[in-house]
Amino acid sequence: MKFEKPATTNPVDRLKVIGQPHDRIDGPLKTTGTARYAYEWHDEVANVACGYAIGSAIPKGRIASMDLAAAQRSPGVITIVTAENAGKLGKGEMNTAHLLGGPEIEHYHQAIALVVADTFEQARAAAHLIEVEYERQDGNYDLATAKPGVNGAPEDTPDTVTGDFASAWASSAVQHEATYTTPDQSHTAMEPHASMAAWDGDRVTLWTSNQMIAWCRKELAATLGIDKEKVRIYSPFIGGGFGSKLFLRSDALLAALGARAAKRPVKVMLTRPFIANNTTHRPATIQHIRIGTDETGQIAAIAHESWSGNLPGGTPETAVEQTNYLYAGANRLTGLRLAQLDLPEGNAMRAPGEAAGLLALEIAVDEIAEKVGIDPVEFRILNDTQVDPNNPQRFFSRRQLVACLRQGAARFEWSRRVAQPAQVRDGRWLVGMGVAAGFRNNQVSPSGARVHLETDGTLTVETDMTDIGTGSYTIIGQTAAEMLGVPLDKVVVRLGDSDFPVSAGSGGQWGANSSTAGVYAACVRLRETIAHQLGLDAEQAEFADGYVQAQGKRVPLTDAARAGRITVEDAIEFGDLDKQFQQSTFAGHFVEVGVDVATGEVRIRRMLAVCAAGRILNPKTARSQVIGAMTMGVGAALMEELVVDTHQGYFVNHDLAGYEVPVHADIGEQEVIFLDDDDPVSSPMKAKGVGELGLCGVGAAIANAVYNATGVRVRDYPITLDKLLDRLPESV
Ligand code: MOS
Repeated sequence: MKFEKPATTNPVDRLKVIGQPHDRIDGPLKTTGTARYAYEWHDEVANVACGYAIGSAIPKGRIASMDLAAAQRSPGVITIVTAENAGKLGKGEMNTAHLLGGPEIEHYHQAIALVVADTFEQARAAAHLIEVEYERQDGNYDLATAKPGVNGAPEDTPDTVTGDFASAWASSAVQHEATYTTPDQSHTAMEPHASMAAWDGDRVTLWTSNQMIAWCRKELAATLGIDKEKVRIYSPFIGGGFGSKLFLRSDALLAALGARAAKRPVKVMLTRPFIANNTTHRPATIQHIRIGTDETGQIAAIAHESWSGNLPGGTPETAVEQTNYLYAGANRLTGLRLAQLDLPEGNAMRAPGEAAGLLALEIAVDEIAEKVGIDPVEFRILNDTQVDPNNPQRFFSRRQLVACLRQGAARFEWSRRVAQPAQVRDGRWLVGMGVAAGFRNNQVSPSGARVHLETDGTLTVETDMTDIGTGSYTIIGQTAAEMLGVPLDKVVVRLGDSDFPVSAGSGGQWGANSSTAGVYAACVRLRETIAHQLGLDAEQAEFADGYVQAQGKRVPLTDAARAGRITVEDAIEFGDLDKQFQQSTFAGHFVEVGVDVATGEVRIRRMLAVCAAGRILNPKTARSQVIGAMTMGVGAALMEELVVDTHQGYFVNHDLAGYEVPVHADIGEQEVIFLDDDDPVSSPMKAKGVGELGLCGVGAAIANAVYNATGVRVRDYPITLDKLLDRLPESV
């Protein structure tokens, strides 16, 4: 099905199942421990061996020698895979560094060997007997040091320029200019990266944890140098991804290589301390922002430049994206600056681009609003735009930022905020409120599905879509149930298998809208097939309560499948509506903090997110997405930082003891409001992404609340207490 014109009324609009707060249909499997994760498939095949990966102890250089003899003699060892004996390996398009390094070393903890043994303990013990000699080369590990050498935009991401920023800035009545920094961050998914591989002749099956089945399949095939038809990927349950499992990673390749060499199925899990440096991370940024307004606070000039670093061939963190769309202003400049660093590969993490960019932009907006003397909610409303500021002919499909901010302000009792900082005390706590706008683009992506009407009248949906904890199973089931007029418990959803039609996958908050639109397309076809089978007019047929009704007849759905199951397949393909209209999602984030007057400890007292994110397919799973994302925003604001050893060239705090993340229980109160925001331009589902929106802007709202509480403006994340301590009102 091609989606080329805005959607009109369709069966999903009935909202009997869609839009209802159904519990997760996979919930019982998870709460009873019967949902199988990537490392738990060992009884599917016989004779599984365990692999243990070791990584480079240097960040850059080459392996001079590797002595495997002692490890090979170690009890239980079956084989040891290295770049030297693995055979010729290709490289997929999506990884910057090789997943199996050697002799060249591209980053610290790049995998250099996999020891395969009968047990995990044997493999681990043997791995520590491998002797490696390195020739170390100098590298660049510090973004701040590299920054002065980087001025132009990368060739493939030129600056976005509208009007004449320089002169508008120079003549602005009020100016704000500042530099903000965000640190490297680690995804820290609860489930570590893990894979099990089994070969059958020249075909390999991989049980893994991956957000994008089709990418994983293609990249593994390309790396192994085999046809992708010979690769089967299986990833039905995923214990969090956050972008770290968008791509093929070393666990998958090493499991496949280990199994091929051992001639046995092999499973590999990356240990927690290995993940931060072996896999990808969110790159640090240094962001320079200038905003100039007239006396009334209208933005006349806005510039946002962001520096980040990556390995040679890597991409920049796209932290200026939101600045292209969020506020009006005739004279604009945004640009990305990319330094070459020799740290591990930077890549997508939890709303890449906007999440990091809004951390900076939304403090800057708080600062200029204060300079102008306008309330920060009002300043944002004053500078709202309904058109793409860089292309005023182009409208947003729907944009309710103003409503998000107004409703949020009312609900949060924003009027109680005291504009002058450090005025409110509650016992030992300095109390403050902060606001930020949330923005995240809505991307659409082709997505396919197969639907069976079984002979007992139940439906089975199959798509290679993944559920990374987001609720995909449930909303896909709801879509099919709605379309065919059956209750949700009559639908079986099967996901995460490369034998199923290729879907949008889970990433960039495009999964929910695109994958359910693919299921919608397949269900439209199934309705046609069923109507035809029953001799009814498909155009007029109504599917409700297990019956098909048309032309005065009412026939049980099961009658259609009497002669055998009916199977159809289709995909949604998107035309250029996303080019005709700017499709984005919006939020108002409101936070109240308490800051300990003596220690600088920051506590989140209340949080509110008001979201305009298209039709909400399931308010319960969507709310869970948003409160999880808000919690990540607390992490970004207050805790999360991969600390770089700029001499040794690696992330030091690479485990859960040193890399801190908040949990739900750290936060006093979280509330989420969804505005009615059905968007016929986004898809037949009229939905959009919501998960990442929940994170975008939160950290800045916290920073602004900390400022309001204390009068201390911190522009370098995370806002740890050392950055507050000697500037708190009672310490100065
Ligand atoms: Mo997301 S960072 O595209 O999984």
